[in-house]
Amino acid sequence: LRARYLDQVAGAADADALEAVRLAALGKKGEISLKMRELGRMTPEERQTAGPALNGLKAEIDSALRARRAALEDAALDARLQAEWLDVTLPGRPRPRGSIHPVSQVMDELTAIFGDMGFSVAEGPQIESDWYNFDALNIAPEHPARQEHDTFFMHRAAGDNRPPHVLRTHTSPVQIRAMQDQGAPLRVIAPGRVYRMDMDQTHAPMFHQVEGLAIDRAITMAQLKWTLEEFCRAFFEVDEVELRFRASHFPFTEPSAEVDIRCSWADGQLRIGEGDSWMEILGSGMVHPHVLRAGGIDPEQWQGFAFGMGIDRIAMLKYGIPDLRAFFDSDLRWLRHYGFAA
Ligand code: PHE
Repeated sequence: LRARYLDQVAGAADADALEAVRLAALGKKGEISLKMRELGRMTPEERQTAGPALNGLKAEIDSALRARRAALEDAALDARLQAEWLDVTLPGRPRPRGSIHPVSQVMDELTAIFGDMGFSVAEGPQIESDWYNFDALNIAPEHPARQEHDTFFMHRAAGDNRPPHVLRTHTSPVQIRAMQDQGAPLRVIAPGRVYRMDMDQTHAPMFHQVEGLAIDRAITMAQLKWTLEEFCRAFFEVDEVELRFRASHFPFTEPSAEVDIRCSWADGQLRIGEGDSWMEILGSGMVHPHVLRAGGIDPEQWQGFAFGMGIDRIAMLKYGIPDLRAFFDSDLRWLRHYGFAA
């Protein structure tokens, strides 16, 4: 009996088999339990030998069961540890990370640079009324500038004779909105999207400009020049820049100037601040009295300077990017190539 059960315990392959052995031997109707019950019907002499023998057997099988159960549990744990083994020395799997688009980066940078000079950010709608985009900026309906701007007009339903809204062709309408909202004195920049029907290597139908506007009692063109030089030094990260003011014409400024920056091209590499090439970077001038008046500001009391700069254009200059359209292709390979994405 003893040998049979100890063999069965040793041979039990898993917890279920072991439990079956336990029930067969020590369960309520187990063989040994039944034999223990028979002790009652024995003579005292018989009981004196059979009792201890049975108790000893029960204890022995019981401890064999326990030992076997522990051994099976150990083996199961070992198997699990094997299966779930993890090499903590393996390098991590890289996951793609998002990054800020170069145009947004440049917008953040120029917002910070002008912020340091006391300019806050103003905004206006991209779908703008004719009046803000043109009339208020001294561009009369028959003015040729309206054609030059290659304007996208919003369609009006048949019978709706209100003048059409347009996709703003420049950020200059924000000048008017800022004057109306904040009055004088005023120092704002207005970065944002603008739209013109134009598409080639250096033009996209949607692009970005930043408008600058400073209004005070005695603003001069010298302050315009200093402000722009200071900006270019900070933005292009060079100690010295040279700007060239070229007489020009904008309906909303008088006098007007287009501004070029001194640079050099060598080995396809553009350097700002040195060399004998000039690159146009912006339009500017002293705010026209008609424009101040349209913004609700008295031109007898106040004057101001304004400028408008192509953000994509200066980003191309700073990062040496030849094709503007690539900015808006959302091509990760391109972004990676210029170090704008991981
Ligand atoms: N709005 C002009 C443009 O889009 C730029 C400009 C702004 C010129 C402010 C003068 C003053 O070309």
